[in-house]
Amino acid sequence: MYILGIETSCDDTCAAVLKDDRILSNVISGQTDLHQQWGGVVPDIAKRAHQERIDPVVKLALRRAKVTINQIDLIAATRGPGLGIALAVGLNYAKDLAKKYKKPIVAVNHVEGHLLSVFLKNSRGNPQFTPVFPVLGLTVSGGHTKIVLLENIGDYHVVGETLDDAAGEALDKSAKLLGLGYPGGPVIEQVAKGGDIHFLKLPSPLPEKVNFNLSFSGLKTSFYYQIKDWTVDKKMKHLSDLAASFQNSVFDHLERKFSLIIDEYKPLSLLASGGVLANTLLRARLRQLARRKHLPLYLPYSKKLNTDNATMIALAGYHQFNQSGPSDVNNIDISPRFEL
Ligand code: KG4
Ligand code: ZN
Repeated sequence: MYILGIETSCDDTCAAVLKDDRILSNVISGQTDLHQQWGGVVPDIAKRAHQERIDPVVKLALRRAKVTINQIDLIAATRGPGLGIALAVGLNYAKDLAKKYKKPIVAVNHVEGHLLSVFLKNSRGNPQFTPVFPVLGLTVSGGHTKIVLLENIGDYHVVGETLDDAAGEALDKSAKLLGLGYPGGPVIEQVAKGGDIHFLKLPSPLPEKVNFNLSFSGLKTSFYYQIKDWTVDKKMKHLSDLAASFQNSVFDHLERKFSLIIDEYKPLSLLASGGVLANTLLRARLRQLARRKHLPLYLPYSKKLNTDNATMIALAGYHQFNQSGPSDVNNIDISPRFEL
């Protein structure tokens, strides 16, 4: 089955073609250059850029996959969660395409896409493995931080989530405080290398053992108050130590809660995905955690599949279609707060 995936939930215009769970093409037109000067994503700018780019991006994805629109068996587009006016561009484009070419369509959950991204395969069908359920999944990006028990594909229970900021959002905000620009996660990762993780003492959020939720706003506030009166020179002198301290506190918190929930729910395997998992250190820490717990850990086979893309939307759509059939093209709409 050939699936065309479309994703425009934030600031990347994405289209991809899959043959079942194999990636034939993956096109991402990022907008970082447009939003950087504003220190974050500006919804109107994102919307306009998606409108300009969606058609060429979809055509390029089809061309790279060597597939025509007539050969496509299913169109999958993101319904939410995300920025409403950005989501609408991708979903409306997908609906028009489905009507024009009489193709079935499914509207899928972006977070489900991130969770399933670990099961994507390259065009030759690698990596080959059969996931063992139940899987406990940690998915961490700029918009969400969730720990989800997957009883099977399509059967999900959120067992822990952030009560305030997402982990990626916290990294983005700390980078802004350090004058490092947007998006902050990748810059913090670079700058933190070689820095002293104990340089600042930051709190350990929600320390109680019975609390499975996460919280990042206290970390951010403590970081802000500790450096707010510092001169630019002083911040520059200790940039690496500041970035390392903050990043380490975020990862400590993620790892501590994930470990607690593993012990409570006793899954048979683990997965981790989402933009923040593009971070090499976090991936290494979770690999070590999985070894200590004697559990397999699934990560997307390429780092590029952690950040927003349409291959994960196509895969979530493929499974949704196989389990429950198509959505009603005349009755689907965006859902900016779509729950898993
Ligand atoms: O999944 P994603 O592309 O979009 C959302 O669904 O939010 O995630 C973007 C988030 C941003 O907060 C960004 O700073 C973070 O992922 N991120 C990283 C890295 N690359 C992206 N965080 C830490 N280290 C990275 N290398
Ligand atoms: Zn995302």
